[in-house]
Amino acid sequence: MKLLTLFTSVALASWGAQAWSCLSDADAQGIADASVIFLSHQDIDLANRTAQALFADNIVEFGDSINSLRGDPLGTQVEDNKATYIEDTLSTPPIQQVNTLGIVHSCNQMVWFFEFIGIGPLRIRGFNLITVDSSNKIIEQRVEFNSLAWAINIGFNVTPPATGPFSQ
Ligand SMILES: *[C@@H]1O[C@H](CO)[C@@H](O)[C@H](O)[C@H]1NC(C)=O
Repeated sequence: MKLLTLFTSVALASWGAQAWSCLSDADAQGIADASVIFLSHQDIDLANRTAQALFADNIVEFGDSINSLRGDPLGTQVEDNKATYIEDTLSTPPIQQVNTLGIVHSCNQMVWFFEFIGIGPLRIRGFNLITVDSSNKIIEQRVEFNSLAWAINIGFNVTPPATGPFSQ
């Protein structure tokens, strides 16, 4: 009887913790909305306050698309410091329009399908696989997007191969 009581209370406690920390639809939408405010940073102070609340202190970010643009080896960690990440992002040109095209989420992860307009002539679409901690703060982002469109938008010269199996 005592054992059963113990098991029951443990089960209830873990269920309670789980339920409390699980992303709701509104939580996931809120994270996407906050990400839009941060990335479009029309108002720097608002974007900063939003980002401070959005990200956990130990946030990390990975993404081959950004590695490719920066010329880093694929798999290189993109961000590992909350303050630097926020400062660096806020000091880059604002993205005029950030659209949310889709959100799916589980308990502690969500995928945000996004679209950037205004970096250059081409729209840029991509996905961010976001993991949150028990307070729903972002601890990890795995971002992949159309970095070829981004590269063309910012002035890279992209030339298709003239010969070979992938020539056009
Ligand atoms: C963002 O907020 C942090 C913490 O309040 C502050 O240290 C930093 O200077 C702010 N950055 C900008 C760009 O406003």
